[in-house]
Amino acid sequence: MPAIHICEVGPRDGLQNAKHLMPTEAKKAWIRALADAGLREIEVGSFVPPKLIPAMADTHELVVFSRTIKNLKVVALAPNLKGFQRAIEAGAHKVTFPVSASHQHSVSNVRMTPDQMVEEVRKCAEYPHPGVEIEGAVATAFGCTLQGDVPEDDVLRIAAKLAEFCDSVALADTVGYANPAQVKRVFHNVLSRIGTKLEGAHFHNTRGLGLANALAAYEAGVRSFDSSLGGLGGCPFAPGASGNVITEDLVFMFESMGLDTGIDLDRLLEARKLMVSAIPEEPVYGHMALAGVPKGFRAAA
Ligand code: COA
Ligand code: ZN
Repeated sequence: MPAIHICEVGPRDGLQNAKHLMPTEAKKAWIRALADAGLREIEVGSFVPPKLIPAMADTHELVVFSRTIKNLKVVALAPNLKGFQRAIEAGAHKVTFPVSASHQHSVSNVRMTPDQMVEEVRKCAEYPHPGVEIEGAVATAFGCTLQGDVPEDDVLRIAAKLAEFCDSVALADTVGYANPAQVKRVFHNVLSRIGTKLEGAHFHNTRGLGLANALAAYEAGVRSFDSSLGGLGGCPFAPGASGNVITEDLVFMFESMGLDTGIDLDRLLEARKLMVSAIPEEPVYGHMALAGVPKGFRAAA
């Protein structure tokens, strides 16, 4: 088991916010290239109304395809029971639910208050789902572009409720407001409340603090991170949200610290080229792709 577990969310968080649609076949080639680079978990899409986010209309086909790749945990996002049923039908291994701690973002994103959304996830947990993992992701856990401050007590309360019936809980900085001191504090407090149910950290790099926040979460005990190749990403229902923490830079940071991610950096950069060639006009970010792997770099494993 690698020391660090990374879930690539580009095909979902990245493409849901991209201006350009990626053809389904190109998505499949990209997902395969990501798995070939060593990613063992990929969020391949979301089960939301296709009219709302047309880029996610092919998620069923992508889940079915991704299931054929060995040793890959196939994740999809769902906002309600209908989405969960579609995810189960397609064969997703894990379904993640966005539960905003910010009232305003929650209503904008899923047209439910945070408490209504918690109850929606509870309903899903009670619906038969043999072999399918459920993750409750506390969105806007570090601040919100609509509401501003998000009280830590709200984050703690929602995380604790989700931990009652979800297999795991994640904290997400949906709009890139977090700073490392806050990340350490909030993860520490949630960990002391719900223990190992708290697994994942999902950061956006909107204000350049994605890697610093990931490191702070690591120091707070987190070993599971979401990130996105080329730093694509953002929530279309959170104004001002932009790209996720960049997978290739995150892999470089951990590997150069001697922490194995199981991911081959050169192959990851190949997967990035494939992604860029499929949506060449979409802005992408990242230092590794610009600077290259340093001379004498040794991967951790
Ligand atoms: N997948 C497909 N269709 C769905 C659906 C789903 N998960 N959920 C609802 N629908 C359909 C309903 O069947 C209904 O169809 P109809 O008009 O043909 O009867 C229609 O969509 C409206 O359903 P309703 O339950 O009233 O949904 P809504 O309009 O209140 O929207 C959500 C609620 C949760 C479905 C929507 O806000 C959503 O998908 N949000 C997620 C946004 C997102 O992906 N954000 C980024 C990730 S964090
Ligand atoms: Zn996100």
